[in-house]
Order: sequence, then C-alpha cells, then structure tokens
Amino acid sequence: MRAIEFFSGIGGWRYALGHRGTVSRAFDISPGANATYAHNHGDRPLDREIATLDPDLIAGLKADTWLMSPPCQPFCRMGAHRGLEDLRSRAFLHLMDLMTILPPDHLVLENVVGFLGSQAHELLCSRLRAEKMHWREFQLCPTGFGIPNLRPRVYLVASRRPLPALPLPVLTRPPLAVFLDPLEDCSLYLSSEQSAQHGPGLALVRPEDDISACFIGGYGKRFVGSGPFLRTPQGIRRFSPREVARLMGLPSGFDFPESLGRTQRYKLLGNGLSIPVAQWVITHLFPC
Ligand SMILES: C[S@@+](CC[C@H](N)C(=O)[O-])C[C@H]1O[C@@H](n2cnc3c(N)ncnc32)[C@H](O)[C@@H]1O
Repeated sequence: MRAIEFFSGIGGWRYALGHRGTVSRAFDISPGANATYAHNHGDRPLDREIATLDPDLIAGLKADTWLMSPPCQPFCRMGAHRGLEDLRSRAFLHLMDLMTILPPDHLVLENVVGFLGSQAHELLCSRLRAEKMHWREFQLCPTGFGIPNLRPRVYLVASRRPLPALPLPVLTRPPLAVFLDPLEDCSLYLSSEQSAQHGPGLALVRPEDDISACFIGGYGKRFVGSGPFLRTPQGIRRFSPREVARLMGLPSGFDFPESLGRTQRYKLLGNGLSIPVAQWVITHLFPC
C-alpha cells in the first residue's frame, strides 16, 4: 500500500498504518505539525494548501490509498455548523474534485461525529458510489479500546475490495494512573487563584479513574470544556503533553521538537488521532 496522508498533523495515520504500507507524501500547512512529523517520521510533509494541489502532483505520487482527517471545525458541535460553506472545507472539496479524476483504491477518513449526515459526508459517499467502492462507517471512542479517555469520532474506510466485518476489541480500561508521568512537573499545577476561579467548572478526575474528558486543541490555554484536569493531594493540575500523548495511544518514542512550547504541543495533540482506534479501522484494508 502506498498512501498519501492529507491534513497530516503529527502523522497519526502514518502511525496507524505502521509497516503495512508506506506514506509516499504527507501534506499540511502547519509549521509546528510539520516539524513534529519530521521529528518523528523522518521526512517532512509538503507545506501546501490542499485546496490548490495540482492533479499532476497527486498522480506523480502513484499512491493507491488516501488517508485523511480534514478540519473538523465546520462540523463541530460547538461551531457555526457551516459545513461545506465553511472556508476550511475548501481543501476537502478540492479532494472530492480530485477523486473524480484520480480516484484512489482505498480511502480512510476520520472526523467529528457531526460529519455524519453532513453535506460533506453525502458528497464523499456519492464519490464512493460513483466509483462502485465498498465502505464501512463507525462511531468509535478509545474508551472501547482500553484507553481511559473520551474521543468519540466518526471513521470511514473504503475500498474497491469488499471489506470484512471485524469484531470490536473487548478490552478493560486501566486507571489513568497507568498513563501518568513517574515524576510530576510542578509547573502543571493551577495557582490557588486559578483553582478557585475555574475549579467548579473543570472536568476533574483522579488517578484511579478509568475515564476522562476529551482533550481539545485549546487545552493549554483554556480551562472549562478543554479536557480533563487531575486532582492530586497537591492540588489540581493539567495532564502533561507526554501524558496526553500516552492517552492518544502514540508510541513511547513519540516526541516533540525542543522548539515547540507546551501550548503548541497541546494544540497538536488535541487535533490528533486515537492511534489504537485508527489502527483497528485501517485493519479492514488488510484482512488476514
Ligand atoms: C484534524 S488535524 C489532523 C490531525 C492528524 N490526523 C494527526 O494525526 O495529527 C487537521 C490538520 O490539517 C491541517 N490543515 C487544515 N487545513 C489545511 C489545508 N487547507 N491544507 C493543508 N493542511 C491543512 C492542519 O494544519 C491540521 O494539522
């Protein structure tokens, strides 16, 4: 399998694909995401606006698979729900145009639950139908994959081949304690003023809990609604980027370039993929 990773971020789809295929090219416009991708995967994504990608460039990659997590803001529960009219959908629309002239053999997509039933979803399904492709859609959360963190998302996997019906894993969730750093970073703690001001609205958890709220990109800046905060005998603290990475199922070797500050790290992780879930989805393309 030779894949193109569109909207590549930190390369979640590449981790999920693993050794089962290669990524011939990744595309993203975020310098921080591209630096992190290069730091971990070796090669740097092309810093290109996907809405302007030339068909010849895509054809030249000779890829058979498209992996993608398009921007979710147009479909987010909290956003303006502008869907395809949102300017951030231009890149997705361009890919849907490219699909009519360069249809891949396989396609995998992840997005927020609001994507289901949207015009964008309809458009994608119409392209798959026109190509007589088979596809399966799932609403999945890492809590069903042994991870004590909520991240409900829609996944769609499509192929020219019929897709198997794979059983969902049956896994129990360990407590959050398993995902915590061995040594605490004091700078993660909220000040007593911050705890007094925001504490009542926070999604507080304890190390022994086996569930926690979803991390969003603004976790490093915002308090209420941005993700879980940990209550310990010392007070209330944020999860460290490394702890968030573990809860996303990123491999232990995953790291950020030194130059990226904590807020940027949270942003990239909050935009990312749950790797165990993405791996299960992509397995549909590799039946034993
Ligand atoms: C939801 S995140 C994808 C995260 C990715 N799956 C990962 O594992 O980190 C969307 C990514 O698309 C990028 N992006 C958004 N609009 C884009 C565009 N028009 N062209 C290229 N990249 C874009 C953003 O910079 C962001 O990294």
